Amino acid sequence: MCGIVGAVAQRDVAEILVEGLRRLEYRGYDSAGVAILDTECNLQRVRRLGKVKELADAVDSNPIIGGTGIAHTRWATHGEPSEANAHPHVSGDISIVHNGIIENHEVLRAVLQERGYVFESQTDTEVIAHLVEWELRSAKSLLEAVQKTAAQLEGAYGTVAMDRRDPERLVVARSGSPLVIGLGIGENFLASDQLALLNVTRRFMFLEEGDVAEITRRDVNIFDVHGNAVEREITESNAEHDAGDKGQYRHFMQKEIFEQPTALINTMEGRISNDTVIVESIGAGAADILRNVEHVQIVACGTSYNAGMTARYWFEALAGVSCDVEIASEFRYRKFVTRPNSLLITLSQSGETADTLAALRLAKEKGYMSAMTICNVAGSSLVRESDLAFMTRAGTEIGVASTKAFTTQLATLLMFVTALGKQKGVIDPQKEKEIVTSLHQLPTQIEKALAFDKPIEQLAEDFADKHHALFLGRGEFYPIAMEGSLKLKEISYIHAEAYAAGELKHGPLALIDADMPVIVVAPTNDLLEKLKSNIEEVRARGGLLYVFADSDAGFEECEGMKIITMPKVDEFIAPIFYTIPMQLLSYHVALIKGTDVDQPRNLAKAVTVE
Ligand code: AGP
Ligand code: GLU
Repeated sequence: MCGIVGAVAQRDVAEILVEGLRRLEYRGYDSAGVAILDTECNLQRVRRLGKVKELADAVDSNPIIGGTGIAHTRWATHGEPSEANAHPHVSGDISIVHNGIIENHEVLRAVLQERGYVFESQTDTEVIAHLVEWELRSAKSLLEAVQKTAAQLEGAYGTVAMDRRDPERLVVARSGSPLVIGLGIGENFLASDQLALLNVTRRFMFLEEGDVAEITRRDVNIFDVHGNAVEREITESNAEHDAGDKGQYRHFMQKEIFEQPTALINTMEGRISNDTVIVESIGAGAADILRNVEHVQIVACGTSYNAGMTARYWFEALAGVSCDVEIASEFRYRKFVTRPNSLLITLSQSGETADTLAALRLAKEKGYMSAMTICNVAGSSLVRESDLAFMTRAGTEIGVASTKAFTTQLATLLMFVTALGKQKGVIDPQKEKEIVTSLHQLPTQIEKALAFDKPIEQLAEDFADKHHALFLGRGEFYPIAMEGSLKLKEISYIHAEAYAAGELKHGPLALIDADMPVIVVAPTNDLLEKLKSNIEEVRARGGLLYVFADSDAGFEECEGMKIITMPKVDEFIAPIFYTIPMQLLSYHVALIKGTDVDQPRNLAKAVTVE
């Protein structure tokens, strides 16, 4: 779920491993550890509860000399966050790091205990260490022992094994949790994310599901799930080197909020001309797929789900194509009906979200005409396993709370909907031109929204002592309210909920009092008058309103109602535009509350376990 880094080199690797973990910190974790084989082939293990900094300090004050090692940041799933539960776990001469969950760990634990193994942690991971140790007693090699172990594991794992007696070799296995091998000159590396290794190499091999690989300084030998030797393509990464640098900003989240105009320019580059969306830019064969699509099923989690909910309004209103949106963890376990000529779209920043990936795999069996992913990470599992990948190009997103990934997803979706509507003959050239003109204006408009940083910072003061907040919107602004409430909840720990404003009187109105701020996304549109009535319902009950609207909307500030007057923007891009003040509000509230903005408690960046 969190971070893995490994190295087999002739130089000392402690620093490389710890730096790799640092680069993976953004994923969220609760403890960190490293195990290195020193020059005498003794295992030197250091683990710390808390930040990588603590581990780095411990390693600094007691340097470890050695060229082969593994390191891990843990996001506890089984057993509390503690030093004893932190990885690497050791059994005899074997050390193990593991991302994911071993679902049959209890059965395996009982078997291993009968064989005399004593468990030192509460983790599911420790069974892997003992199993490898056990299998190695009869296997010819560490590779064979890991293969035999992998065959007994149920659940999701990316795991690495190191044997004290065989110091120039690491064996890795991947099933449901990403692993990438980084190729150096006379040295090789591995990690759960290429970002961890960008300071040592740019040449990567992405392991596929079921792969087990043996890594030495000179060679990488990969075997598929059936044990056959396989080759995996070597890709040259152009991921940003400095993605791990906050620059002038205080937090990655802040940096990523302010990067959105540039990110959006990248998203649209080469995909729209003056007045058209270039259908071919979606990918080879996209035109044919689009012509035949009769239904769209979107599957995603969290912020990506909110992007899907917004796009549903566009798919139906602009392209005339019916669209369902479902949370991946529900979709994957539901007996659903596949509509004819249905296109499955997965939305994901990371491309590694376990539930979304499982939904994609399931949909492939269930007769969807095609599967497309809208994703931010090249080479990720979703990208590799989908028929079509339309990349969002937001650049590396490090803050756990998604910001630029969301707005670039929306821009990508709007381009896609326009292409679809055009192929289906629903969007005529005039309409297409209007949408594309709006898209061209988007980066500049986002700059204008970012200029509200200061006033929103002041507004945030009002929220510092609040424990609850309600976000309201109608139509495509309802999912924008949902995203606003998710952001506030994630990083300020204030309980926040979003409602379609028309639903207020069916229950949530009972919550309204002066302690429950109500944030309303209220630009001028066809539903504004309806929304105004909902706002009156809140005012009449003494609610405290914060209304984000444009000057045409005709709101007047009064007791109990603050108006934040935003510039007027085209209806097509308005949902993207109104996302910005929601992001800024949650960011400033979190600052006041002093929370860990980039790594909010209990959360991880890429949720690669169920
Ligand atoms: C966003 O702020 C969240 N941390 C989270 O909801 C996230 O959007 C979700 O886990 C999905 O991730 P993905 O886009 O990488 O699939
Ligand atoms: N399930 C393992 C544990 O709780 C691994 C967690 C992780 O992916 O970091 O230790």
